[in-house]
Amino acid sequence: MARVANGLIGVVNFVTFLVSIPILGGAIWLSTRAATTECLRFLQWPLLAIGVALMVVSLAGFAGACYRLTWLLRLYLFAMFLIVAALVFFVIFAFAVTDRGHGQVVLNRAFLEYQLSDYSGWLRDRVSDPGYWARISACLRDTHACKHMARYVRDPNTGLLLPESQDMFSQRDLSPIESGCCKPPTSCGYTYVNETLWNAGAGMVVTDPDCVRWSNDQQVLCFQCDSCRAGVLATIRHSWRKVSVINIVVLIIIVIFYVVGCAAYRNAKMVENDESFGMARMTKAQPSRFQF
Ligand SMILES: *[C@@H]1O[C@H](CO)[C@@H](O)[C@H](O)[C@H]1NC(C)=O
Repeated sequence: MARVANGLIGVVNFVTFLVSIPILGGAIWLSTRAATTECLRFLQWPLLAIGVALMVVSLAGFAGACYRLTWLLRLYLFAMFLIVAALVFFVIFAFAVTDRGHGQVVLNRAFLEYQLSDYSGWLRDRVSDPGYWARISACLRDTHACKHMARYVRDPNTGLLLPESQDMFSQRDLSPIESGCCKPPTSCGYTYVNETLWNAGAGMVVTDPDCVRWSNDQQVLCFQCDSCRAGVLATIRHSWRKVSVINIVVLIIIVIFYVVGCAAYRNAKMVENDESFGMARMTKAQPSRFQF
């Protein structure tokens, strides 16, 4: 009987080991999504830590079940509890800090535009912090976050490559970072030259401070704009929501298997106690300690 239970714990651990793979995958996916998240890499650390912990802990549990090391199994059950708590915290946190905020539809534009005033809470405070923003904006600049926006069309008469027209640009779908950081807000009424070159009309009255922050210097662009901060927030929100879905699924699987693992562990203990197995270190453990 005890052998069967140990086998079950082994299977449970193997499944949790498998489950840690999508968590790690989610963390890596967060970090590899183009230049946009290269600058938001710090966001993946909690997830990466949880994924690695899950992998190590389930390997420990696997070894504990195989070699019948009770202390290792105890450690496993305790560590697993901490991991479940961390995952729950992460999911709640991710939803709490991304509860508000969305892109704005602009007349005659296919892309959305982003305004900082639409966002709130902890993440907004982070990007509003000058020191923090200095790092993110420097990263956006250094990773040439706007370079991939360029699109060209061949002039049918001369055969030369020209930047796409304003009409074509208006019909494009831009990422939040491209929309917020790489061009001035549409409300400024600037004249399009290419994706990242816009001329201010003479004597125009602008109300949005972002219009003044805009620069045709390709190293500056709108990286200091509030719209850029909002674009970054929109990107984070989008990624965290997706990762949270993975986390919730993983959490459900872990909890189910955790309960099964605990039950198997307790059964194993009871059987050992009943049969008065000769293994002192196995009978010393108190099964009641592992009840919820
Ligand atoms: C727009 O034109 C400027 C000046 O020629 C150039 O430096 C910049 O790379 C162009 N932007 C894009 C996205 O191609």
